[in-house]
Amino acid sequence: MKILSFANRKGGVGKTTSALNVGAGLALQGKKVLLIDLDPQGNLSQSMLSEAPKNTIFTLVMQECSLKEAVFKIRNNLLLIPCNTNFARFEKQFAGESDSQFILSDFLDAVRKQYGDQIDFIIFDCPPSLGLITINAFVASSEVYVPMEAQQYSLEGLNQVKQEVDKIRKRQNKELIIKGLFFSRHNPRTYISRDMMDLLEKDYPGLLMKTYIRRNVALEESPSMRQDIFQYDPESHGAEDYSKLVSEIING
Ligand SMILES: Nc1ncnc2c1ncn2[C@@H]1O[C@H](COP(=O)(O)OP(=O)(O)OP(=O)(O)O)[C@@H](O)[C@H]1O
Ligand SMILES: [Mg+2]
Repeated sequence: MKILSFANRKGGVGKTTSALNVGAGLALQGKKVLLIDLDPQGNLSQSMLSEAPKNTIFTLVMQECSLKEAVFKIRNNLLLIPCNTNFARFEKQFAGESDSQFILSDFLDAVRKQYGDQIDFIIFDCPPSLGLITINAFVASSEVYVPMEAQQYSLEGLNQVKQEVDKIRKRQNKELIIKGLFFSRHNPRTYISRDMMDLLEKDYPGLLMKTYIRRNVALEESPSMRQDIFQYDPESHGAEDYSKLVSEIING
């Protein structure tokens, strides 16, 4: 079972879009996927469920419901544990506890016990911060993927993720790596994107993925139809690019 986090300290860079479409793409390739929404904004959940869920990752970690009650079957090979604004209380709830950084990894032990061979990939959609939620995700993950845009703030967000990953690898999770960086809303023809590629190659050698996601209106529209890109417009650039990204993730 591989556990992937999509994270960037910067907001609006494509974390949720990537978690959703990589998850859906992996499922299409026959992999069994559990998506876990970790963002109190709940965007991933809203783009997959037609009704607000009663049970979420928050009621799960508070042990107010069973795993079964909070796992939604979206379709074949694709499961979701949703999130809502209540999860903003996570930090306050657990910050004082000695194992506050291990809440999600303990939770995944329970998932492994119950679902074991029924899941190949768990994917965390992280919030745009490096608070206790994201730290928990990193402690529980095997690989971090960082979606970015070709602009300065996105790069700063990446640098902050890198520092946090380095810290966590030293102590809580020796396996954790940043596995890939990719442009999630890209126009390769601009000067800044070429500069940015050179800069990333220098500072993060070998980590920039071959695939980039082009700016694509179908990717913007699909969440409001509660569809992933492969359902909404399988002929779109978005579907083509995410399908390539999925292959790179599976093979890399
Ligand atoms: N390749 C793309 N082309 C066009 N629009 C995109 C693309 N990728 C993402 N978007 C749009 O950009 C917006 C931000 O994307 P998304 O919600 O995935 O970012 P995020 O990093 O999860 O944001 P947050 O930090 O708020 O959680 C959304 O409206 C999404 O539909
Ligand atoms: Mg998001």
